[in-house]
Amino acid sequence: MSVSNLWVGAVTESSAWVRGRVSSSANARLVVSESPSLTSPAYFGPVAPTSELVASIEADGLDPDTQYHYAFEHDSVVDTAWQGSFRTHPVLGEPASYAFAMATCAGSINNTASGGYTDSKVSNHPVFDVIRQHVLDPLFFIHGGDLHYRDIATNTPASYRTAYDDVLTYNGTLGATARQGLLYRNRPLVLTWDDHCYATNDSDATATGRPAARQVYRERVPHYPLAESGAIYHSFGAGRVLYIVSDARSESSPGTDTDGPSKTMLGSAQKSWMESVLSAPGFDAQYLVWVMSRQWMGSGVDTWSVFGTERDELVQLFGDTGWLSRMCQVSGDVHALGMDTGTGNSWGGFPVYCFSSLDSTPSGGTSQYDLGQTQGGRGQYGTVQIHDIGSQLAVTGTGWVMDQPWRWHTSTLPLARLTRRHQPPASHVLPL
Ligand SMILES: [Fe+2]
Repeated sequence: MSVSNLWVGAVTESSAWVRGRVSSSANARLVVSESPSLTSPAYFGPVAPTSELVASIEADGLDPDTQYHYAFEHDSVVDTAWQGSFRTHPVLGEPASYAFAMATCAGSINNTASGGYTDSKVSNHPVFDVIRQHVLDPLFFIHGGDLHYRDIATNTPASYRTAYDDVLTYNGTLGATARQGLLYRNRPLVLTWDDHCYATNDSDATATGRPAARQVYRERVPHYPLAESGAIYHSFGAGRVLYIVSDARSESSPGTDTDGPSKTMLGSAQKSWMESVLSAPGFDAQYLVWVMSRQWMGSGVDTWSVFGTERDELVQLFGDTGWLSRMCQVSGDVHALGMDTGTGNSWGGFPVYCFSSLDSTPSGGTSQYDLGQTQGGRGQYGTVQIHDIGSQLAVTGTGWVMDQPWRWHTSTLPLARLTRRHQPPASHVLPL
């Protein structure tokens, strides 16, 4: 076997980044074709794998909004067992309609739903197949944290590397047929972390494993350009939608600190960066999706409720930069589906969609979301459909339990109102 694992991310209208581990230090090339049989391919590389046998290859010069298939050629052999696919984004800054999927939390202890490996803390739940084969054909998948539950308590890069390998191959037992690997090889991954894959339960900037977590994310994950050399926050665009992917752990004060101006979840550098991106996205962005691993509306000790000063500060920032009436947040951490149209969100009034859990111990049954009680469970995730016809932009969030829609909500923003500030979105709720 020449490839050990492979995934794709950082897709744009003209490029994609494929990363994988290979079995030796021999050169690797990326083979890209519009055909599933990889005929008439373009080749990218060769590259020499790192000392960790990781090969990173970007394909560029691709056509927008086009389906591609790819594989690694390693040591002159194309390893089709690990073949993957992706669709390039529509042209950035132009009206375009598409869907993405989002979820958090996979693989907690007592994980009987994924069968057999009760203490492996990585998941092979069938939900990953459901997302990959979803009827909405998601352009990408956002994993909002808790990729695994290894709860690494030491500053040991090897432990983080092993965790990524194990996620992609289900502990090496399933190789190329592991469900998470199949998903991340065929739906470009956007990944941030939460406590259990960053370090330990409710962890923060004081975590022992912080340097190793940051280092190995950079070694292994095919990510969009990161905004700095430490924390992993970043942004990207697709169509006329701006995405901000927050790092809510590695700069965070302990939740137990007393709330006040110096207590922070994001850190001052990340907030300054947010202000610059929100003020000047660099393309015609008309809607904002904020990827936030931790609970905005929760009430627990590990949520935004104990960072109230900074929460108010961020609402002010979104308002001042004109986004408050044309944004939503996708989040997780609590192992439940929960959807709010904005009226229950006392901190900003934007829709909040909690899409969890993929496969973790259910928790839920709380009532803070205006569409009704949260629903704990496994096999749960969300989709967000962007309907952008130029004169109107509508966004539909849907919570799913496997292939069954749970609840959904649509915000509709007439274009004439998109550029006006502080105007609440017209919204309505479609009953099931
Ligand atoms: Fe979790």
